[in-house]
Amino acid sequence: MALTVDEVKEIASHPQWVSVAESLPLTKKSLISDLDSMRQQCGEFARAVIEVAVARKSAATKLPGTWIMSSEAAQQATPYLVAVARARRLRDTGLSSFADVTCSIGTEVAALSDVGLPAIGSDIDAARIEMARHNVPGSRFLLADALAPAYDADVIIADPARRAGGRRIARPEDLLPPLPDLISAWSGRQLAIKCAPGLDFSEWEGEVALASVDGAVKEACLYTPGLALQARGRQVTRSALVIETVGKRDPLDLDATTVTRYDDTMDDDCDVRAAGRYIVDPDGAVVRAGLVRHFAAAHGLWQLDERIAHLSGDRLPEGVSGFEVIEQVGLKQVRKSLAALDCGAAEILVRGVDVNPDVVRKQWKLRGSKALAVVITRIGKTATAFICHPRAKG
Ligand SMILES: C[S@@+](CC[C@H](N)C(=O)[O-])C[C@H]1O[C@@H](n2cnc3c(N)ncnc32)[C@H](O)[C@@H]1O
Repeated sequence: MALTVDEVKEIASHPQWVSVAESLPLTKKSLISDLDSMRQQCGEFARAVIEVAVARKSAATKLPGTWIMSSEAAQQATPYLVAVARARRLRDTGLSSFADVTCSIGTEVAALSDVGLPAIGSDIDAARIEMARHNVPGSRFLLADALAPAYDADVIIADPARRAGGRRIARPEDLLPPLPDLISAWSGRQLAIKCAPGLDFSEWEGEVALASVDGAVKEACLYTPGLALQARGRQVTRSALVIETVGKRDPLDLDATTVTRYDDTMDDDCDVRAAGRYIVDPDGAVVRAGLVRHFAAAHGLWQLDERIAHLSGDRLPEGVSGFEVIEQVGLKQVRKSLAALDCGAAEILVRGVDVNPDVVRKQWKLRGSKALAVVITRIGKTATAFICHPRAKG
């Protein structure tokens, strides 16, 4: 549910309202009684206050807990850790003026400001600009169309909206604003444009930088050549930033996480051979960036098949998760094997084979007492399954 400019202004001047709402259950079942209770405190603004409290709860591991946001804006926002990682690499370019032309609630501007880079934010949605002003005090925010440049900066950051009417967008020209129009509106500037990870970036001449947090791929960011990283004497064209917060104290503090970067200037020399003791399913950012071989070479792993992203090794590299193999069987033998091993629950991973994990899980009728994992993959033309111990971390 969207917020209006007036609602944002009222909530910003009554911060105690959201604090009170945050102490309510805020579940689907409690919604009516939560609304009744907030109406006594803040009258007509109760719905908006509940909206902000619910949005904060949903974004607790993603965005600062004091921000004003709607659920949709929270869902669209860049995870703060990813925005800070981008801000740091932009700081290292030495360029001096930055603008986020689809700034929404101000996430990128806040991250830039955190690393000491003043930035302007603009958006076509007045309520979001009002939220950004509250969330990032001291920064400049303007109501402006990203397709009609109203100001200038060395680096333009943009994050076109990826959903329309709840539908996922698959074509760059369907993004809001459309990607080709955005690029032509700001031609001549250095660009950092966030996109859905699933789009086809094969034509992009700069760097396509994938980022994941705790195994979930969050974005692909397109950097023009002037912003692309240089490594080993070459321009990086594909990179993957793998951020792990699990077990760390503060999900908003990048320095309290483990950050690993892979790119296509790294060595990609790895073997293709039969499985060793472990199967490793590389992080989604590595896979989407096309850096599976680089990842394998960096960790002393090898491929099971040169076209499939499942890797193998005789030990788990530090910080990398994988599965210790119990046995390798044909797909038709999996059910019998799992029963013999007393399996009652299985994590199922599939690559290169047309198998739906939910469907096979039902077919296997697991009734045992042990948790196991099944990695279904293709080697050459043959589908095969590895029955494994549960996921472990090196
Ligand atoms: C995915 S959100 C951006 C999220 C932001 N990067 C963050 O981390 O919070 C996309 C934003 O683009 C804005 N937008 C859509 N079309 C626009 C246009 N033509 N000009 C400026 N902003 C636009 C939307 O209002 C929305 O706030």
